[in-house]
Order: sequence, then structure tokens, then C-alpha cells
Amino acid sequence: MTYLNKPVADNIYYVGVNDCQKHLFENYLPLPNGVSYNSYLIVDEKVALVDTVDVAFADLFFRQIDEVLKGRTIDYLIVDHMEPDHAGSIGLLVNRYPDIQIVGNKKTFDFLKGYFTVNCPLVEVAEGGELSLGKTKLNFYMAPMVHWPEVMVTYDPERQLLFSADAFGTFGALNGSFCDDELDLTPFWDDMRRYYACIVGKYGMQVQGALKKLGGLPLQTICPTHGPVWKTQLPKVVGLYDQWSKYETEPGCVIAYGSMYGNTQQLAEAVAQGLVDGGVRNVVMHNVSKSDASYILADIFKYKGLIIGSPTYMNGLYPLIDSLLHKIEERGIKNHVYGCFGSHTWAGTACKRLTEFAETMKWPLVGTPVDNKQGADTETLNLCYELGKAMAAQIQM
Ligand SMILES: Cc1cc2nc3c(=O)[nH]c(=O)nc-3n(C[C@H](O)[C@H](O)[C@H](O)COP(=O)(O)O)c2cc1C
Ligand SMILES: [Fe+2]
Ligand SMILES: [Fe+2]
Repeated sequence: MTYLNKPVADNIYYVGVNDCQKHLFENYLPLPNGVSYNSYLIVDEKVALVDTVDVAFADLFFRQIDEVLKGRTIDYLIVDHMEPDHAGSIGLLVNRYPDIQIVGNKKTFDFLKGYFTVNCPLVEVAEGGELSLGKTKLNFYMAPMVHWPEVMVTYDPERQLLFSADAFGTFGALNGSFCDDELDLTPFWDDMRRYYACIVGKYGMQVQGALKKLGGLPLQTICPTHGPVWKTQLPKVVGLYDQWSKYETEPGCVIAYGSMYGNTQQLAEAVAQGLVDGGVRNVVMHNVSKSDASYILADIFKYKGLIIGSPTYMNGLYPLIDSLLHKIEERGIKNHVYGCFGSHTWAGTACKRLTEFAETMKWPLVGTPVDNKQGADTETLNLCYELGKAMAAQIQM
């Protein structure tokens, strides 16, 4: 049982769960600190549940609900997001509460009917729609593509509280509390950026749209579907979302490189030295074979400079670099300055492909791309050092 003796706000209770078993979120993003699936009960004349949890945790979830409700039924399930990490327990919930009414928008119900057989009443809401639970009046606002097209958020004007679905969420289990002022938030900030970069990062424009729409609402509490409930840190997390969705960066540079036998790494190190000598202090080196791409993307979202290096491999890019480029491209990451270097033994392709990537991303190409043949000599290493220095000058402009 977790957190049950402490309300999130007046008559609102946390009934979410920690998942410390899953290794990979969406089966590809590492979860070293776990993740929480948050769900909330609003207890008024009518009782509403806001989202559910991953079906693997349904048993614990229902026990927590029982403990709060002590025999009362649930009148409404509000479905802010249909992704199975939140919607997964809907089928079992409806079996348990056959008279429950499901609140969602047109798209929610399209998805709902495809995933579950539900015979209970559906309450369709649209932009600005209201649901009364008694004293509590809830308003719904659509937030398409933050993170799926059907996503909506639920606002409680009386408590100035927003159920924000995946927005403002983060990886990381809630250890001992859901309150942001009772947790050590140190590990959450990096994980929140990684979560943003990987889950929502493609939809900067839509996040900006949602922020503008919700900007006028008085807010004291944000209840996301993952991670802490934001109260004391609310202005900070809203500011971070604004910054990330505008692709605003900090001075610093990521060097992401692949290397099988160390030659390309030598080039990367010379580039790093140039950056440092040029005055850049935030230089993050990622060996793509060691760093999971989610961490590399998180750092790319943070820093203005990006330099990528790759050996030529089967007349193309090193596979993990190829895959990284694809991830960057599909997120449409903007406002970066970019440089590159490559290596080969008989016919260089990598450097050419990396140079073309500047055009693909519409990023200014900084310095001169360096292509190294076989073992790196002093001249080539000097060129890499100069590339680092040129990038340093750009970053500090
Ligand atoms: C499996 C494999 C495939 C390669 N394919 C090419 C190639 O198509 N063209 C080329 O010029 N070099 C090719 N190379 C050579 C590497 O690009 C070159 O040795 C490079 O310097 C390796 O950098 P590293 O020491 O950082 O791994 C290949 C090497 C390996 C191991
Ligand atoms: Fe989601
Ligand atoms: Fe989610």
C-alpha cells in the first residue's frame, strides 16, 4: 500500500504504482530508476478515477482504490490518455465496476473500442467541456500529440489543479512520497529531460500549443501520469517544458561518436580538446556503443553544439550512428550548430554522409568536416582540434 494516508489535495488521492521491474519503457528506453504510473481518485458526491495503470499492476491498484473508497463505487473513469501504461487496466476496472461511466473525447472512444470490449456508458467531452462531481467541477482541454492524438488534460478550477497526462511526467519511481517537496529530485531532472526528448520531443509545436492554451489557467498543482506531483517546483517544470519545446539550449557540446578500434575515438578526443581550449566547459562525450541513445538525445536537447563522428562501415555509416541520426531526424530537433568527422581505410563514406546530415536538419555546419584515412596523424588530429575550436566559437557567440 502506498501514500494512502496523504491526499494530493482536498479529497484527491494518489492510487498509482511504482514499476521497478520493467527494464525498458516502451520496450526500448532504459529505466534504471524505475517509473511510476500515476492514477488519482477524486472523492466527492460522485467519485471519479483519473486514468488507470499498466495492467501488470492491476491487483495492487485495485487494493489501493478499495482502501480509499472503503466500499464506495467509482462513478466515472476519466481517460486522459489511451496508451496502455495508463489505459491498460480499463478492461479489468470495467469488470469490477460495471456501472462506471467512461469520460473521454471522440478519439479516446475510437481507441477505447478498439482495445476493449466495453458496454458501459460513455460520456463524450469536447474542448472546454465540464463534468460535475458535486462540489468539484472539472474542465477538459484537448492536448493532441502530447503524446498521442487523443490526449486531453483535466482541470479542476476550484483546487487550481491540472491532471496533465504525460505532460510534465518523468521516469523514476516515487520512493516514499509523490510530493515534489518530499523527494530528492536530483535524479528526476535528468530523467525528465530524457523522458521529454524520447517521448514528447518530436511534438515541440504541439507542446507549445498546449502551454499557450493552458497558460491562462491559475495552477497550484500538476498531477502528471508519471513522476512527482508538482507543487513547489511547478513554475520550474512549466519553464522546462517551454524551453525544451522551443528547442532552446544551453552553451555546451555533445560529441557522439562510434569507434570499433579506437581511431575515430582519437579524433573525438582531439575535437573535445579543441572545445575545452576554446572555452567550452560542458563537453559531453558519448560513445554510441556504450551510451544508450536516450541519454544521447537528452543531452542533445540540452546543449547547443553537436559534433558527430563515425567510421565508414560497409560503405556507409557505423550502424549505431546511422540509428542515432534517424532518431535525431525524426524528432526534428531545431536550433543547433553542428560539426562532423569520419574515418575510413579505403573509401570514405561516413564523413560525406555526416556532412549531408547538416542539410537534412537545416543546421549550420561549423568548421570543416574532417575525414581521416587509416591511422590518425598529427595533421588530422590538428584539424579535429580546430573543428572543436570553431565549434567553441559558435557556441559562445
Ligand atoms: C566491418 C568493417 C567494415 C568496414 N567497412 C569499410 C568501408 O566500407 N570503407 C572503408 O573505407 N573502411 C571500412 N572499414 C574500415 C574502418 O572504417 C576504418 O578502419 C576506421 O578507421 C575504423 O575506425 P575505428 O578504429 O574508430 O573503429 C570497415 C571496418 C570494419 C571493421
Ligand atoms: Fe504516453
Ligand atoms: Fe505514459
